[in-house]
Amino acid sequence: MELAPRPSSVLRLLLLLLLGLSTGAVTARPAEEGKEVWDYVTVRKDAHMFWWLYYATNPCKNFSELPLVMWLQGGPGGSSTGFGNFEEIGPLDSDLKPRRSTWLQSASLLFVDNPVGTGFSCVNKSDAYAKDLATVASDMMVLLRTFFCRHEEFQTIPFYIFSESYGGKMAAGIGLELYKAVQQGTIRCNFAGVALGDSWISPVDSVLSWGPFLYSVSLLDDQGLAEVSQAAEDVLDAVNKGLFKEATQLWGKAEMVVEQNTDGVNFYNVLTKSARMSAVKSSLEFTQSPLVHLYQRHVRHLQQDALSQLMNGPIRKKLKIIPEDCSWGGQSASVFQNMEGDFMKPVISIVDELLEAGVNVTIYNGQLDLIVDTIGQEAWVRKLKWTGLPEFSQLKWKAVYSDPKSSETSAFIKSYKNLAFYWILRAGHMVPSDQGDMALKMMRMVTQQE
Ligand SMILES: *[C@@H]1O[C@H](CO)[C@@H](O)[C@H](O)[C@H]1NC(C)=O
Ligand SMILES: *[C@@H]1O[C@H](CO)[C@@H](O)[C@H](O)[C@H]1NC(C)=O
Ligand SMILES: *[C@@H]1O[C@H](CO)[C@@H](O)[C@H](O)[C@H]1NC(C)=O
Repeated sequence: MELAPRPSSVLRLLLLLLLGLSTGAVTARPAEEGKEVWDYVTVRKDAHMFWWLYYATNPCKNFSELPLVMWLQGGPGGSSTGFGNFEEIGPLDSDLKPRRSTWLQSASLLFVDNPVGTGFSCVNKSDAYAKDLATVASDMMVLLRTFFCRHEEFQTIPFYIFSESYGGKMAAGIGLELYKAVQQGTIRCNFAGVALGDSWISPVDSVLSWGPFLYSVSLLDDQGLAEVSQAAEDVLDAVNKGLFKEATQLWGKAEMVVEQNTDGVNFYNVLTKSARMSAVKSSLEFTQSPLVHLYQRHVRHLQQDALSQLMNGPIRKKLKIIPEDCSWGGQSASVFQNMEGDFMKPVISIVDELLEAGVNVTIYNGQLDLIVDTIGQEAWVRKLKWTGLPEFSQLKWKAVYSDPKSSETSAFIKSYKNLAFYWILRAGHMVPSDQGDMALKMMRMVTQQE
C-alpha cells in the first residue's frame, strides 16, 4: 500500500531554493509529498490490526536520519489513525489542511489502531476483543514483529512510543514486552523509550486528586469537595479490595459527582465545559450497562461526527483495503466494554520495571487536564521504587520556552538518568492539540534532537 513516493532530496532542495526558503528552516510539508504505507496484520485468530506509517518529511534530512515514533491513543477504543493523526500530530488536520506543528517534520510516524476493534482494526468474533493489558501487549508484539520484518529500513532507527491517556497505560505494558522481545532477539528494532502523556498509570491516584485540584481552581466549594472526596474514597476502597469491575463503576459514579458539583466541567480541560455529545448512538448506549456514561465521556469525544465522516468517507476511499463490514469506530464501544476489568488496575510496577531495565521513560502532563491531573501523576511517581527517585525528586525543575523569542514559559522539565517529567502549561488532556509547538519541541527533546 504505497502512495506517491517522496521527491528526491535534490528536487526538494531545488524547490526550496527556488522558493527562496532557507534550507535550514524546519517547515511542515503536505503529506502528499511524503511516502505513506498502511496495512493490516492479523494479530490473533479473528483479530485484525490496522497500522498507518508516514515517512518523515523534513526538507534537509532523510527519514533514515530521524526517529520513528509510534502514537497510541487512549479510550481504550480511541483511534490513533483517526484522532491522533488528524486531530493531534499528523501531517494534515481534519479539514485535510497541512498542520504547521506536525511531528512528521522531525520523525516518521506510525499510527496503530489498538486494541483490536479500535478505529479501522476489526474483530470477526466478539470473543476476540482484548480483555486485559497482557493481551493488548502481546497483540502489539505480533504487529511490531511483522512491521519491522517488512520494513527493515526501520530496524536500526531509534523507535519511541508516545501515548495519551489510556494509551499511556498500554505504552508502559507494550514497552516492557518490547524491551524483552528485543533482548531475546524476537523483534529487531532500536527501542529508544516511551513517553507517557496524561497517562492512566495509577487511576486511583488520579481520582483521589480530583477534589483537591478542582477545589484549588474554584470549581468546588467545601460541600462539593466533601462529596467528590467521598466518591473517590469509595473507588480507593474497591481498588484496595481488588474489586476492579466495581472500582470501574464507582469511578463512573465519582465522575458524575464531579459533573454535578462543577456545572459540568470538561474532564479534558478544566477551563471549559463538557462538549455536547454527538446525536449518533452507539450500540452500547442502547444497553443498560453502567459503562455507558464512561464510554460516552472517554471514547465518543475521540470520534465526533466530523472525524467519523472523514474516516469513513474520503480516508477509507484512499486506503482502499478497509473491509466492507468494518466501519471506523464501529466496534469501539465493545473494545471499551471488554476492558472493564482492567481500567482501574495500576501499572506503576511496570514503569518501575522499565526504569530498572534502563529504558528511557518520559512523563508529560497538561496543566489543565482533570481526568489525569498533574497532581495525581506526581502522586504515583512518588510511589516508584526506582533507585534514582530520591535524586530525581531533589532536582529543581527548569523552564522551557517553545518560542525562543518569547519569555512566555511553555513548560517545566525535570530529568534524572532515564526518567523525565514535563509539566506542559496551558494544555489540557490532549497536549499536542492544545500546545502544538510545545508538544513538537518536547518530542524533539525526548528524541535527542535538541
Ligand atoms: C534515505 O535513506 C534510505 C535508507 O537509508 C535510502 O535507501 C535512500 O536512498 C535515502 N534517500 C535519499 C533521498 O537520500
Ligand atoms: C474478518 O474480518 C476481516 C476484517 O473485517 C474481513 O476482511 C474478513 O472477511 C472477515 N473474515 C470472516 C471469515 O468473516
Ligand atoms: C535516554 O535519556 C538519556 C538522559 O536524558 C539520554 O542521555 C539518552 O540519549 C537517551 N537515549 C535515547 C535513546 O533517547
